[in-house]
Amino acid sequence: MTTPALGVCYYPEHWPEAWWERDAARMAEVGISFVRIGEFAWSKLEPSPGELRFEWIIRAMDVLGRHGLKVIFGTPTATPPRWMVDKHPDMLPIGRDGRRKGFGSRRHYDFSHLGYREEAARITRLLADAVGDHPALSGWQTDNEYGCHGTTYSYSPAAREGFQRWLREKYGSIEALNEAWGNVFWSMEYNSFEQIELPNLLVCDPAPAHDLDFRRYTSDQVAAFNKVQYDILKAKRPDLPVIHNFMAGYTEFDHYDVAKTLDVASWDAYPLGHLATGAETDDIKRQYMRQGEPDYQAFHHDLYRGVGHDRMWIMEQQPGPVNWADFNPDPLPGMPRLWAWEAFAHGAEVVSYFRWRQAPFAQEQMHAGLLRPDNEPAPAYFDAQQVAQEVKAIGIGGAAARGRVAIVFDYQSEWAWDIQPQAKGFSHSAHVRALYAAFRKHGVDVDIVSPHSTSFEGYSIVAIPALFAWTESLRSAVENFDGHLLIGPRSGSKTENFSIPSRLAPNLPSNLLDAKVIRIDSLDPAAEVEVTGSGAVRLWRERIETRAKVVIQDVEGWPVLLRQGKLHYLGASGTKALVQRVVDHLIAEAGVPVIELPAGVRCRVRGGFRVYVNYSNTAAPLNLAADEAEYVLGSGEIPPAGVTVARLSRAE
Ligand code: GAL
Repeated sequence: MTTPALGVCYYPEHWPEAWWERDAARMAEVGISFVRIGEFAWSKLEPSPGELRFEWIIRAMDVLGRHGLKVIFGTPTATPPRWMVDKHPDMLPIGRDGRRKGFGSRRHYDFSHLGYREEAARITRLLADAVGDHPALSGWQTDNEYGCHGTTYSYSPAAREGFQRWLREKYGSIEALNEAWGNVFWSMEYNSFEQIELPNLLVCDPAPAHDLDFRRYTSDQVAAFNKVQYDILKAKRPDLPVIHNFMAGYTEFDHYDVAKTLDVASWDAYPLGHLATGAETDDIKRQYMRQGEPDYQAFHHDLYRGVGHDRMWIMEQQPGPVNWADFNPDPLPGMPRLWAWEAFAHGAEVVSYFRWRQAPFAQEQMHAGLLRPDNEPAPAYFDAQQVAQEVKAIGIGGAAARGRVAIVFDYQSEWAWDIQPQAKGFSHSAHVRALYAAFRKHGVDVDIVSPHSTSFEGYSIVAIPALFAWTESLRSAVENFDGHLLIGPRSGSKTENFSIPSRLAPNLPSNLLDAKVIRIDSLDPAAEVEVTGSGAVRLWRERIETRAKVVIQDVEGWPVLLRQGKLHYLGASGTKALVQRVVDHLIAEAGVPVIELPAGVRCRVRGGFRVYVNYSNTAAPLNLAADEAEYVLGSGEIPPAGVTVARLSRAE
């Protein structure tokens, strides 16, 4: 697919059938190409067990198809109907506190419950047969936002049984498990797999390997749940993409694993909601409350492009105020256009607004749509129309340009430091995002890559921050890479079994890096240690024995940045200024071209064009970059919420 397209999320079951025709006609007028339907409609598709009512949704597809719209059909498994709970009372998930969750909202199922998994397979099969050959059908969405509302983990008997089975398969013998988990400590040894409990409701922390294995097990259940649907949908229509809509800032399961049975990774972009509920400072929140944090969307575009084997969609795009944060501001006029342009620049094939019409009833009645509840256009209606026209006129297409820089993002590292932070707030993703932002400030395109990467060929710089444990493939990718590497802090500090490696961190051969982390100094965020030159160390610093060259040290003489050949090791968490200094140093060493961007402005290259977006509250000047021929949209004065597109002199 080349030319990016717009989509919208539509719920025909929410509206009188007499409205569908006009809705579809107006969607086509806006320039929308894709319509996602179905994902919450189970109670209307099967009002009682076995009573199938698919005609209405087929009629809705007929209407959409008549207007040239392509349908993405969502399997309705995130919202099992009430009768399902009567049939399988134990499918309801159990929270960490041991209490069962109830019916009356959504996502009320347990990934470990095999009976429910079979029900999900059944409805998927029936729907695949009923709508799979419909001419308007253009793709599938599995379920909806796996894990949303804290539903990844369940501490149920089904999970306990599944976990025990999984452990038996992994370890073979209980002795091997005792050894791997270090159960000799505190007399935690087991005599059999049947004795093993889930890691909740204990007196204090479980062994970290116990906790980590439970997270791995649970992640595998999400992947298995997805695979069941994928296999059915692919068997019916091998030609159509199977997509899931992932979430932002969400790491409870390994998305790379789930995406093994997906053709496209999509994610749901709610920039203002993410900022309001996220961990940014109050200053940033105030500054960007109507735009979203300038690197947040971009990071997720790049992450999910990596997760999705280079195919990424936005399945849900915020169109106006949402309903689910404490405060839900109105976006700056033009932001729904900017967000779509930015997603396209990062390689999105489709940006689909959530939702067509604001619902006047139920939980999300305060959530904007492209239409108001009275059927009049809301502002985003015109934003969408404008983007559709602009994209067509400019003819942007192709794929997102490959970045010069790659950063490894690893879900297990997220879990590991959540299990054992050592310094409160230490997280893998925070380190990834800090580096990402420092590169992006200079207009450098970044790819996010998996820890299972086997080669980094083609990149000038690869960064591996806060990595829990080396995988075989990653270690060999590092060994064979001839570009610049930035590793650490904390990278390679554990084994797969959550123990300290005998060689100590960073656990690399000395010909690569002659360094050993011999002590950790974990710091209250109030206590920063200045670094010679500029910047400071915060939260985490490592005492390192090394023969490598010390490039930066702190004022107390602890090494901060080491260098051996083209490998740099960062032995601390830095303030923004320090991270920027390290990144600037790497960029200079590697000779990566930069574009100096005004505050709040970001850019990305796709298909021979560089797209600039302005997240700030003020207009900003741009200069044509060395590789740009002319502006084809907007100008060298980019207004707040503005978009400028430059054509490159030479298509890459
Ligand atoms: C998403 C979800 C949608 C809708 C939306 C509201 O998380 O997939 O169904 O609830 O949020 O912003």
